[in-house]
Amino acid sequence: MEFIASSAFGLEGIVKKELADLGINAVGEQGGARFSTDMAGAFKANLWLDCTDRVLLILKEGKVFSFQELFDFVQSVSWEDVLPRNASFPVNGNCVRSKLMSVSDCQSITKKAIVERLRRKYRTDWFPENGSKYQVSITIHNDSARLTLDTSGEALNRRGYRTWVGEAPIRETLAAALVRLSPWQPGQTLYDPCCGTGTLLIEAAFLASHRAPGLKRAFAMEDWAITDQSSCREIRNEAQKRFTPDSIGSIFGSDIDPDALALCGKHIAQAGLPGLIQVKRMDLRDVRLPDHSPCFLTNPPYGERLGDRKKSAAIAAVLGDMLRKHPGSALCVITADPAFEQHAKSRAVSRRRLYNGRLECEFIVLRG
Ligand SMILES: C[S@@+](CC[C@H](N)C(=O)[O-])C[C@H]1O[C@@H](n2cnc3c(N)ncnc32)[C@H](O)[C@@H]1O
Repeated sequence: MEFIASSAFGLEGIVKKELADLGINAVGEQGGARFSTDMAGAFKANLWLDCTDRVLLILKEGKVFSFQELFDFVQSVSWEDVLPRNASFPVNGNCVRSKLMSVSDCQSITKKAIVERLRRKYRTDWFPENGSKYQVSITIHNDSARLTLDTSGEALNRRGYRTWVGEAPIRETLAAALVRLSPWQPGQTLYDPCCGTGTLLIEAAFLASHRAPGLKRAFAMEDWAITDQSSCREIRNEAQKRFTPDSIGSIFGSDIDPDALALCGKHIAQAGLPGLIQVKRMDLRDVRLPDHSPCFLTNPPYGERLGDRKKSAAIAAVLGDMLRKHPGSALCVITADPAFEQHAKSRAVSRRRLYNGRLECEFIVLRG
């Protein structure tokens, strides 16, 4: 079976590497990594991949130029092998630079073709759709169509620990990618001086303690008839055993905003890590760590409005000072401010273009 682990632009290489760590060979492509495995392998991918948005099962790919071709393309899939009689199978879609550009027409033709196929195979006209959900997607890019089923259900950034939204939190999947892209190694001190609701700290703690990001959540594929439930249970139990909270080490943070810190405390507890990550209220001007070579990893405030830009310039200057007060340390920052290094009075030793939502950013590493 073929799958795509879809990801944000710029994270494809990390996803490919993560799959390799799971023993799955993958090929990177724009927006994700493609790999072959069985349903148990797909479950493992859902459970462990921390920078991926969704794991999609590819049912068919090919060129389509007309609605009739799309109908035939969809109808040729053996839907009866995947969808039980009571399956709920909503269809979503996306069309880019193609002859067929009406998303709603493509969705309804896809739905019609699936129903037509199932009608013949199941010899019934009535599909109650009151069973498990199989989200179907039809995407057509440059006339190349791809039909997929979403094995994940809720997007994989939903780990289950963040139920409150603070000011501008970073997505869990992007936070996990920044942890992986930083020079920090588990065991070394990691400090976020603008920790907000704690996403970077929690994702780092997950990595250090071998905590599968999906350990405490369910996936759509677990309810599917084609999934072997007992092998999923076994893989989940195995993941539970690998979780070693004692190996989290020194992961700390601070923030100036008490409301964000209150959410941060709740998130840490909900992530199952109470007492394992320390956070306190502090202006970043006052950050001084006894450990001289920590890794600072942070997502400082930035924005497009003039007031935001002035604030972000002032914060960059303070972050630069903080770095100089800690010789031997590293400062890893995601920022949309092209003048960050100028304000911080320090040059990046590495940089990478990434997107925080739709905002184009750079992830830069500076050395103290
Ligand atoms: C973009 S948010 C960080 C979001 C965080 N990564 C999360 O997951 O919630 C920026 C944070 O910087 C904090 N901040 C702004 N000025 C600060 C200062 N002078 N000292 C410490 N924290 C500050 C804000 O309170 C806010 O929580």
